[in-house]
Amino acid sequence: MTSYRKMTREEMQTEYASVARDFSSLKSRGLQLNMARGKPGKEQLDMVSEGLFHVFAAPEDFVSGGVDCRNYGELFGLASARRLFADVLGCKPEQVFMGGNASLQLMYDTISKAVTHGMLHSPRPWCKEEHVKWLCPAPGYDRHFKVTESFGFELITIPMTADGPDMDKVEEAVKDPAVKGMWNVPKYSNPQGIVYSAETIRRLASMKPAAPDFLLMWDNAYCIHELEGDFLPFPNILAECAEYGNADMVFEYASTSKITLPGAGVSCMAASEANLEYLKKLINVQIISYDKVNQQRHVLYLRDRAHLLELMRRHAAILAPKFRTVTNALDQEIAPLEIASWTHPKGGYFVSLDAMPGTAKRTLALCKEAGVTMTGAGATFPYGVDPQDSNIRIAPSLPPVEELREAIAVLCVCLRMSALEKLLGK
Ligand SMILES: Cc1ncc(COP(=O)(O)O)c(C=O)c1O
Repeated sequence: MTSYRKMTREEMQTEYASVARDFSSLKSRGLQLNMARGKPGKEQLDMVSEGLFHVFAAPEDFVSGGVDCRNYGELFGLASARRLFADVLGCKPEQVFMGGNASLQLMYDTISKAVTHGMLHSPRPWCKEEHVKWLCPAPGYDRHFKVTESFGFELITIPMTADGPDMDKVEEAVKDPAVKGMWNVPKYSNPQGIVYSAETIRRLASMKPAAPDFLLMWDNAYCIHELEGDFLPFPNILAECAEYGNADMVFEYASTSKITLPGAGVSCMAASEANLEYLKKLINVQIISYDKVNQQRHVLYLRDRAHLLELMRRHAAILAPKFRTVTNALDQEIAPLEIASWTHPKGGYFVSLDAMPGTAKRTLALCKEAGVTMTGAGATFPYGVDPQDSNIRIAPSLPPVEELREAIAVLCVCLRMSALEKLLGK
């Protein structure tokens, strides 16, 4: 295989004719494959359901620490669930608030409350501010960006580095009092699988933002989601922030969406006791208590941290071959052509690919034509606009390996075709 960078125009034209033939034959197969969203596959869901739906054998199983979880009460959640998640996140049980079936809803709600009522240290609700700005490390999670966009905040892109967000840019940006917060996926980031370095975490925890109510949104969605190797220990951000006098600056989120069942798992939020006390007054108005039956189901099924990590190893055994299918195909088919680069993540749910600038949209349009649905181009950037038109998020978790093999073969052909079109000025 010759690098496209070294080909003459004539060679490129011959190559294009051959790739276009491959594309036509793929198209004629009428494929219907999906690598769009980070959903667990059927095998994972079956594995979890086997245990999760059989934990209630007797009426006593609904009682936890003297609390009948079938009834109203315990706004902060079952003590046993708070202990389990505190153990996972490395914080104190008193700092954990158990939510419903989605951490995204807790994140949205935190920001929504800041807008309508203000946070603990807000001089006024954010809806009374002239202008609110928000830091968005990118590539990042599209739904995060949408949340802050939906409230009318100005989204500021912060480039990602191998160690996490570009901290020089962050430290400069937070000098502006209109900058009220920042998204973070600190471990196995979506989509690049980047793990923030200890130094990045220290710099974030010790920031002195001009806004007194700055929100460091710490979405630890992939905190125990290793694909290979042992569990990677990770600093407790609540303690780090507290050490630098920023105890109330951070809100951490996690859920079992990719541990048990997405949309039917449990979520949690961890924050300083002062923050939780403040939010309690507001949450108390909107809900009497979250679904404790589901919390109890999860506590009985997951048991403790060690058992939970064992379950994650079983997930990894299903997921790792899927990720390898994707990265091996790219390494073999695309690397020699020098038209794209991609990540080899050690955890999380995505492979992030950077195609030749100006070709991501075209590549994904071609994929669609050939029956392969991928996350839309630009989705990983604020406002859905990738300035380079280069980043493509690949979600290998849902399709079985055989389907994935076909889908990635299509992607490879589309990458080649769009790169050649670009190089030939078509
Ligand atoms: C970084 C990140 N946070 C949150 C979520 C959604 O989590 P939940 O189902 O708990 O709302 C996802 C789902 O893909 C994600 O990638």
